[in-house]
Amino acid sequence: MKDFIQKLPKAELHLHIEGTLEPKMMLELAKKNSINIPYKNIEDVKKAYDFTSLQSFLDIYYAGASVLITKEDFYDLTWAYLLKCKEQNILHVEIFFDPQTHTNRGIAFGDVVEGISEALNKADDKLGITSFLIMSFLRHLSEDEAIDTLKLSLPYKYFIKGVGLDSSELGNPPSKFKKVFQMAKNAGYRCVAHAGEEGDASYIKEALDILHVSRIDHGIRCEEDEELMKRLKKEQIPLTVCPLSNLKLKVVKTMKEHNIKRLLRYGLLVTVNSDDPAYFGGYLNENYEAIVDALKLSKEDVKTLAINSFKASFLSDSKKLFYLKK
Ligand code: HPA
Ligand code: ZN
Repeated sequence: MKDFIQKLPKAELHLHIEGTLEPKMMLELAKKNSINIPYKNIEDVKKAYDFTSLQSFLDIYYAGASVLITKEDFYDLTWAYLLKCKEQNILHVEIFFDPQTHTNRGIAFGDVVEGISEALNKADDKLGITSFLIMSFLRHLSEDEAIDTLKLSLPYKYFIKGVGLDSSELGNPPSKFKKVFQMAKNAGYRCVAHAGEEGDASYIKEALDILHVSRIDHGIRCEEDEELMKRLKKEQIPLTVCPLSNLKLKVVKTMKEHNIKRLLRYGLLVTVNSDDPAYFGGYLNENYEAIVDALKLSKEDVKTLAINSFKASFLSDSKKLFYLKK
């Protein structure tokens, strides 16, 4: 099965580029850029990755991202992830980045986008990997700050496919960002949002009804609302599920309790993704392996999940067909 997962052509739709910062690169960049981080070596860093909740992870994740300073740093970070994609037979990726994590430290929006995009273009050219970039608003900050970020992005619209919403979910419901999502839609961006990770099913409904998103990131608490389940099935609204993330952040107690198999059996368009692989102990294939082992998924299930990953992407119908044939 491991070999089957490895060889299967896959897309990844829920991946935060800052979450691919491996401890080794974090230490190297901290040294190069003279940034103080509270770790001396790789073991120190890994010891800190013992999370109790989404917030306990975010605190460490934002501190880690502080070592990213120059355009080249963002290029190197992205290129390292794309090489991993090649290794794992990931043919298409839709990558999140958090501009506010960087602009709030004085890094230029353009340096972040251009560094990431240069690596994405090279991957298209040299590795045959296609991609889209999605900028996420930090939901613990205000809507006005999100609007400022949206305005900053407009000169770079060519590089950016859509907008998303991430960071601390509880107490920051989608409705807080109604206006900026409307503005983003008017500007021609596709919309997605994290919802139903730690927040309850009402967050998913708000993301659909108020932000009009075309995909839900995580969304695993949808089972709490039967009407919502029927709607997700009928409209085939994709959920980008991240099993190892859910386990590491204690959204589920054990992988055996994960509901991804039930959601799949119910007929939802669920996909498998790695979220922040450098922090959660596995890239995409390891996420597939973890659910196959714990939930006894069949090859047919795995194939359906991989097919879903292309179906749920923002690729054109003809490109989807091209990949699905593979
Ligand atoms: N949830 C919310 N914010 C995030 C996540 C996540 O899974 N990963 C990176 N930022
Ligand atoms: Zn995420």
